[in-house]
Amino acid sequence: MSGSNRYAIDDVAFIGRTANEYERMFDLDLSAWEDESILDCPGGACAFVATANDRGIDAVGADLMYGMSPGDLRQRCEADIDTAIAGFDGVEDQFVWSFYDDVADVRDHWTAAYEQFIEDYADYHDTDRYVEARLPDLPFDDDSFSLVLSAHLLFLYMDDLSHEFHEESLLELARVASDEVRTFPLARFDGKRYPRLDDLRETLADAGYDTELRSVPFRFLRDEPEMLVIEA
Ligand SMILES: C[S@@+](CC[C@H](N)C(=O)[O-])C[C@H]1O[C@@H](n2cnc3c(N)ncnc32)[C@H](O)[C@@H]1O
Repeated sequence: MSGSNRYAIDDVAFIGRTANEYERMFDLDLSAWEDESILDCPGGACAFVATANDRGIDAVGADLMYGMSPGDLRQRCEADIDTAIAGFDGVEDQFVWSFYDDVADVRDHWTAAYEQFIEDYADYHDTDRYVEARLPDLPFDDDSFSLVLSAHLLFLYMDDLSHEFHEESLLELARVASDEVRTFPLARFDGKRYPRLDDLRETLADAGYDTELRSVPFRFLRDEPEMLVIEA
């Protein structure tokens, strides 16, 4: 954690969300995407790919950590959850407690997500379901996925990732999507929205992509609950 009095994580944490959280963060009705393909990048320790495949969706996760063994990822995730949870101490009021009851509830969600993820990753990490990849370069052809989801890397870690990284990553996510890219959240942990979001939208427009800010039924950060949608 940083030494300042706002929530921050020094390194990008290897943690993840449940499919239910993703459905809300991305205002996603999974039944509408059956038989379609979805990329989750970065997938982290998310249960989304496991659940989506169970629901008949061809879902793929991509993350720079997916070269690691299931055992090593489990250890990394448990340590990162401990660090990230400890960071809430004294700064709980910087968050909106409507979806989660309290910090213990956040831990319960993250734990449920990574346990489901690790089980699926143990079975499928040697397949195309979990792909080691590092933004802003993805090892996929143009239009490989109907829908691309990207949560809790871009914008959230704005202090560590350059504007150019944001530009290149969004263009790359759009390149591999045939329908839409959805990105959430649009702010740092303390709710400060990415200051150059309009510039990014202009860059995407120049590259031929329409964008939209769309409301989502999920709030934890003190930012407007919106995702960035890129029409691919
Ligand atoms: C906080 S987790 C978010 C995981 C998931 N999307 C979620 O919302 O729960 C951030 C993830 O980004 C991954 N990551 C960091 N930099 C990356 C990069 N350049 N390319 C791909 N993944 C990256 C980390 O390994 C980590 O798993």
